[in-house]
Amino acid sequence: MLKPINGETKLLGVLGYPASHSRSPEIHQYWHEKYQINARYLAFSVASENLEQAIKGARALGVRGLNITVPHKEACLQYADEIDATAQKIGAANTLIFDASGKIKATNTDAYGVIENLHQAVGNITPYLEKVVVLGAGGAARAAIAGLQEAGAKHIIIANRTKEKSETLARQMGGNISIKNWQEKETVLADATLLINTTSLGMQGKSALEISLTNLPKTACVYDIIYTPLMTDLLQQAQARGNFVVTGIGMLLYQAQKAFEYWHGVLPEIDATLKSQLSKPSRSETV
Ligand code: ATR
Repeated sequence: MLKPINGETKLLGVLGYPASHSRSPEIHQYWHEKYQINARYLAFSVASENLEQAIKGARALGVRGLNITVPHKEACLQYADEIDATAQKIGAANTLIFDASGKIKATNTDAYGVIENLHQAVGNITPYLEKVVVLGAGGAARAAIAGLQEAGAKHIIIANRTKEKSETLARQMGGNISIKNWQEKETVLADATLLINTTSLGMQGKSALEISLTNLPKTACVYDIIYTPLMTDLLQQAQARGNFVVTGIGMLLYQAQKAFEYWHGVLPEIDATLKSQLSKPSRSETV
């Protein structure tokens, strides 16, 4: 049973636009109940022109913390009093922590989410970090690359439709990153150890990701950060030819796990009940 609401109940939430499709309220509510934390977590759809008011209003109200999602992950940084090294490197935050004095600290748990999910799925991730092919160069790619670099990836190759975006990303992230044209995404798969899709292609309601995996070694792992559907066409194709596959639902769960720890001081367990609850579409899900 959830702790009943009283005068001490803490408020948390996610700001996005729209935010109604978010699965975060379900995840945090599950943990509030499991750990008997007197808190509620809600989804707030906030348009860009209201972002400043929303964040400052949340601070004024004594909100404990906020997750920040699309399209506000970059813009929210300007309202933070402190931006930690991870959020600075990614250039975006997905978590705001409000301390007792009202200071707002911005961090990013997406990179942790990407890597922890991979780690939990494959065990030792080191062999998969030899040659990583990343499809996409948007915000999700940025978080994935930050996580991969932190985990010790030897060589990262970015293939993105808009080459300039890959070039900017590679410059900003530094390290051992090569850029390939979108048309080259199949030839670069030879001797890849990990393929990650961070584009929106293959997501329910979006265009398909058209890619042949013929060149990809069977020992490589294929990871799609999309979780609607859970088994994307990419993952089905990879699984059918014998590659180990990792779905995107874990990234959602692990980024939430780290945010919860920042807010409540407890690293919550991602147990089988939560995993199975999240694997089913939510009633409100629109994407
Ligand atoms: P997010 O922040 O979730 O990563 P994003 O910044 O909009 O979202 O990035 C979406 C990614 O999907 C980008 O890499 C985008 O490629 P562009 O940089 O060329 O826009 C990629 N993407 C979206 N639609 C695509 C399509 N039809 N073909 C190829 N790539 C596509």
